[in-house]
Amino acid sequence: MFSIKGLNKSYDTNKVLNDIDFHIDKGEVVAVIGPSGSGKTTLLRCLSFLEKADSGRIVIDETGEEYDMHSASHAEIRSVRRHMGFVFQSFNLFKNMTALGNCMEGLVTARHMKKEEAEDKARAMLEKVGLSDRMNHYPDELSGGQQQRVAIARALSLDPDLILLDEPTSALDPELTIEVLDTVRKLAKEGTTMIVVTHEMSFAKEAASRIVFIEDGEIVEDGLAEEFFENPSEERTREFLNRTGT
Ligand SMILES: Nc1ncnc2c1ncn2[C@@H]1O[C@H](COP(=O)(O)OP(=O)(O)OP(=O)(O)O)[C@@H](O)[C@H]1O
Ligand SMILES: [Mg+2]
Repeated sequence: MFSIKGLNKSYDTNKVLNDIDFHIDKGEVVAVIGPSGSGKTTLLRCLSFLEKADSGRIVIDETGEEYDMHSASHAEIRSVRRHMGFVFQSFNLFKNMTALGNCMEGLVTARHMKKEEAEDKARAMLEKVGLSDRMNHYPDELSGGQQQRVAIARALSLDPDLILLDEPTSALDPELTIEVLDTVRKLAKEGTTMIVVTHEMSFAKEAASRIVFIEDGEIVEDGLAEEFFENPSEERTREFLNRTGT
């Protein structure tokens, strides 16, 4: 579905991503794991053009579209982003809008959908993440886990081909983490294509089809989840898994 080729990114003299090649197919759930500072967030930010790469290309297989990650125009960036939804650590909801309003916003403004139609769609997505009874609440009136599920519903409502999640549970208490991970797990079972950066190894093990392990800005190992955890081929991966008690 998506390929990245030769992605490089530095901040001043700090080389954060070093010649990354990466591919994701439709229906795959890829967990990106690795030590703090290894470049995971930067990878998602470059992929979604929130950060400008120094070099690299992104290819959308289905359409043959190919974009330069350094010099893509605003119009090109918009067309890549139409394929993607984002879920951030910090939810990023509009405080002055209800859960329903947050999920309708992009449909009405970016997709020019009629209000009634947008509302139907937003309601369906909030139901999917288990928030039928919280649609008319504002973010302040929702728990962290509920806010994050609104953020997931908002991403889903735009029908993206790929959803990028950057540590969706890191700001949450353990019991709220469970409800968000359950939601992501459900989406995975339904075949939603996702890249999830996570520190939750047991979740990665069970929900992801593939694991990408990044260290020092390089993909050290990229493999099927089962093989990755049972029989990692790289010494650096084994060390990381030992350190994290996996
Ligand atoms: N805007 C920025 N300006 C300068 N350096 C940055 C910037 N963003 C990230 N970095 C640096 O890039 C490196 C990779 O950061 P990144 O946030 O991608 O790591 P990460 O793998 O997501 O870490 P964590 O697991 O802690 O979230 C770090 O050394 C970080 O300090
Ligand atoms: Mg990060």
